[in-house]
Amino acid sequence: MFDVIIRRASLRFGNHCVFTDLNLTLKGGQWTCLLGGSGVGKTSLLRLIAGLPAGETTGEVVCQDGFSVHHRIAWMAQQDLLLPWFSVLDNITLGQRLRRNLTDVFTRRPLLSAEVQEQAMSILEKVGLSAKADVLPQHLSGGQRQRVALARTLMENRPLVLMDEPFGALDAITRLNLQDLACELLQNRTVLLITHDPLEALRLGHEVYHLRGHPARLTDAITPPGKTPRSLDDNGLLALQGRLLDRLRHESFDEQTGVP
Ligand SMILES: Nc1ncnc2c1ncn2[C@@H]1O[C@H](COP(=O)(O)OP(=O)(O)OP(=O)(O)O)[C@@H](O)[C@H]1O
Ligand SMILES: [Mg+2]
Repeated sequence: MFDVIIRRASLRFGNHCVFTDLNLTLKGGQWTCLLGGSGVGKTSLLRLIAGLPAGETTGEVVCQDGFSVHHRIAWMAQQDLLLPWFSVLDNITLGQRLRRNLTDVFTRRPLLSAEVQEQAMSILEKVGLSAKADVLPQHLSGGQRQRVALARTLMENRPLVLMDEPFGALDAITRLNLQDLACELLQNRTVLLITHDPLEALRLGHEVYHLRGHPARLTDAITPPGKTPRSLDDNGLLALQGRLLDRLRHESFDEQTGVP
């Protein structure tokens, strides 16, 4: 598995400099988690890595193996982005169907090869939704919909997975369950996870960074000990959570008052 190296990345919107000269290495096969206040530039950094920049950008994103990062990325957002008129199965195979352009000549509906269908059903089983393959998204709960989004990410089968607050809209228990599931199913992928939840970052991250300030800078990495997903009754983890929460709270307080 290859590292992804972000070198001297800068982003500006007019005279608003979001970040400048930012360097980050996503270690191959590991989870890097990124915390930071609202508006600091987390999604913008993710978009820059994915080659979807808005604003004026400089810098480079390179893979350690020398190949381009393009076509090696899957994206999972906070909104599940499911198409309401497609079944669960059709939603998770959308990428394959669009790329292969397979369409039934009579109904104009996109077709699935037996191999893709089998793969999709096996992934739905892993996320516990094989019974829902033919159901429309409107008949699913928020947690189920986000499991479909995870299944769609897995269907893409990319080595680099960019996740922008994927569990942010879920209740605490569903969120913990989905963290465990994603950790299991995305093992050995290179993952960059953005979250507002320090505990989530500390449970899942091999390295945890905090993006802060204007222009934003990355703090040194925290490397929590132990295997992921880390247990909730680990006192060391809870102490780190307290410190991170405190840091994040002061950061937003400083922004409101203008105190540096
Ligand atoms: N298209 C745009 N035009 C102008 N400014 C933008 C644009 N997109 C983002 N910004 C600005 O860039 C900054 C970073 O935005 P970004 O969406 O990356 O923040 P974020 O850290 O992801 O915040 P949140 O946690 O709320 O999602 C913000 O100040 C935002 O207003
Ligand atoms: Mg964002």
